[in-house]
Amino acid sequence: MNVYDSRRMADVLRPLGYAEVDTPEDADMMILNTCHIREKATDKVFSEIGRLREHKKEKEARGGKMIMAVAGCVAQAEGKFIMERAPDIDMVFGPQTYHELPEMVLKVTGMIGRPRIVNTDFPPESKFDRLPEENSSQGVSAYLSVQEGCDKFCTFCVVPYTRGAEFSRPVQDVIDEAKKLIEAGAKEITLLGQNVNAYHGTGHNGSQADLADVIHEIAQLPEIERIRYSTSHPRDMSAHLIEAHGTVQKLMPFLHLPVQSGSDKILKAMNRKHGRDLFFEIIDQLRALRKDIVFSSDFIVGFPGETEQDHEDTLDLIRRVGFASAYSFKYSARPGTPAANMTGLLREEVKAQRLQELQDLINAQQYAYNLTFQNQVIPVLFDRKGHKDGQLLGRSAFMHSVHVNAPDSFLGQIAPVHITRPAPNSLSGDLVLSEPLPQAAE
Ligand code: 5AD
Ligand code: SF4
Repeated sequence: MNVYDSRRMADVLRPLGYAEVDTPEDADMMILNTCHIREKATDKVFSEIGRLREHKKEKEARGGKMIMAVAGCVAQAEGKFIMERAPDIDMVFGPQTYHELPEMVLKVTGMIGRPRIVNTDFPPESKFDRLPEENSSQGVSAYLSVQEGCDKFCTFCVVPYTRGAEFSRPVQDVIDEAKKLIEAGAKEITLLGQNVNAYHGTGHNGSQADLADVIHEIAQLPEIERIRYSTSHPRDMSAHLIEAHGTVQKLMPFLHLPVQSGSDKILKAMNRKHGRDLFFEIIDQLRALRKDIVFSSDFIVGFPGETEQDHEDTLDLIRRVGFASAYSFKYSARPGTPAANMTGLLREEVKAQRLQELQDLINAQQYAYNLTFQNQVIPVLFDRKGHKDGQLLGRSAFMHSVHVNAPDSFLGQIAPVHITRPAPNSLSGDLVLSEPLPQAAE
């Protein structure tokens, strides 16, 4: 989401004459886009500010000027504190104010006074109505934000406070943006939202549409070959959405579905609004409709009050489901969230040990799954260059990174690859064809 937001900020600033640069040395403005989800991410912000400040100082020593800004969820949550602690910061603004950037920049560059700015409002108008059209090319694999914010209030999570209430864009806006992305070369679209399957936007003729409706409509666009969505909540896996996994071939057989814990007691304390059985049911239903579907998830270990048995329940859930990959984190108390006031905190060593145990299990599952691809031929969407000369990187339908020696003519193409070396975190293989197939003329 932050990568997407950063692009949108660039879109807003382009008409003012700004363009993206690769290094900070000569930049006229630096925006640090930040994440508040765990303490570690927030801590990084202050060390990054210290590092980046040097560039501003150097530029000023040469008689130049540089605006330094902090955007995103740390800005939203800690705006005033950042301003107090980091006097070099000129602007601090939250995730719902990006459309107001031109005005903020005018103010801060001295055309309308020269104040320092803290903008952490939740403006009544949606930023989506005010942001310019998507105009930075994301290439063959593109993100499209359809939903933002969250009303779920899991007890550990800052998102409902930093991103604000749930909001869904109208279907027509989403489709218009998808068409722009296609013009810029997109073949894969990932629909984004903090709670993307809670999507409930205005459909055509004023009806209400859900995420499955959006997926069906995007699947009608002939240029789009792959559709994904992220991140979803088990409670919002509606029958309509589950069914789409069986009927929409373009919907990729990989789903990131965070469950956080396998213990009913902990799920309740987390206010996840479902138990482990619902998770198993969803997985079973999806597997029945789409045989090759695989799952990834998010897990938090060491939530307050988590016993050895609760942790065992999580490992049991992981063993029963079998994941293709997962993200896992030690619980981190976030200021202002209900869980931050809970008792039963766990010692750091216990959290570290449980995390290790969980990650060992996931890693073993992931490697075993990757090994099943040995000698298989699978379609790969080549979306970037590899680090080594002559190497391209792509994605399998199941979200593997795939390394292949291939000429640049394959960039942006989907081509069959013979997998020869599955590794714990990626796959490697050889092209089956020496040239990309000619693309159908539109
Ligand atoms: N501590 C640890 N992990 C967290 N996450 C969200 N909040 C916290 C927290 N306070 C994790 C969840 C979520 C992912 C994006 O980050 O697993 O799904
Ligand atoms: Fe946070 Fe996700 Fe829970 Fe919303 S559903 S509060 S974004 S963890």
